[in-house]
Amino acid sequence: MNKQLRKVVIAGNWKMNKTRPEAIELINQIKPLADNVSCEIVVCVPYTALETAIQAVKGTNIKVGAQNVHFEKSGAFTGEISADMLKELGVDYVIIGHSERRQYFGETDTTVNKRTKAALQAGLIPIMCVGELLEEREADITEEVVSRQIKLDMAGFTADEVKKTVIAYEPVWAIGTGKTATNEQAGEACGLIRNVIAKLHGKDVADAVTIQYGGSMNAQNAADLLKQEDVDGGLIGGASLKAEDFGIIIKAANT
Ligand code: PGA
Repeated sequence: MNKQLRKVVIAGNWKMNKTRPEAIELINQIKPLADNVSCEIVVCVPYTALETAIQAVKGTNIKVGAQNVHFEKSGAFTGEISADMLKELGVDYVIIGHSERRQYFGETDTTVNKRTKAALQAGLIPIMCVGELLEEREADITEEVVSRQIKLDMAGFTADEVKKTVIAYEPVWAIGTGKTATNEQAGEACGLIRNVIAKLHGKDVADAVTIQYGGSMNAQNAADLLKQEDVDGGLIGGASLKAEDFGIIIKAANT
């Protein structure tokens, strides 16, 4: 159906892993696996490895992403990095509002909204993360929680800004736990996100937005998850640190 219209994005979230030499090694292993594929491949590396990764992917179709960005352009924000700084470095993507940032670093829907806006304004592609906690799924409020996040995180966005944003649906209970959402749960949640966007901005905009699934996606389950009509790629943590597994996921996205 409309899946063909959308860009499929397979992004590795390396989290706080890999020194620069280790980053080069992993990228060199991924390079041949990323040859001649039609999906977008992104490696989101720690800040300290960004420049190294950008050099290492030169001449390939692999893109480099950061894992957070501040919303102000510059100023007295010790420890923070602006969207312009990332853009100037040659970064293309940035993960925003990951559940680990929401859980450990006080990230809120308000700050996710501001960061995503700032990233878009600088010409970066945000990978904006949403997803419910286990108790929220058990209380049967997944739809409310995720709809609320989408509405708040994208409040004030133009249709064009919505289209440029990659959304990652990551149920918090599935991240790093080895517990993957079933294909149906993943497909259903990505579909409900698309419906929320359709209500806000119309079907054409909703049909154009890339919505990834994330949460223990791996070499074994990727093919079935990616077959879901509304799943347009993956945000992959653990399995993105093993070139062989990441390669299998890339392959699954291209069949
Ligand atoms: P995981 O992480 O694949 O290790 O569950 C996904 C993520 O945190 O984006």
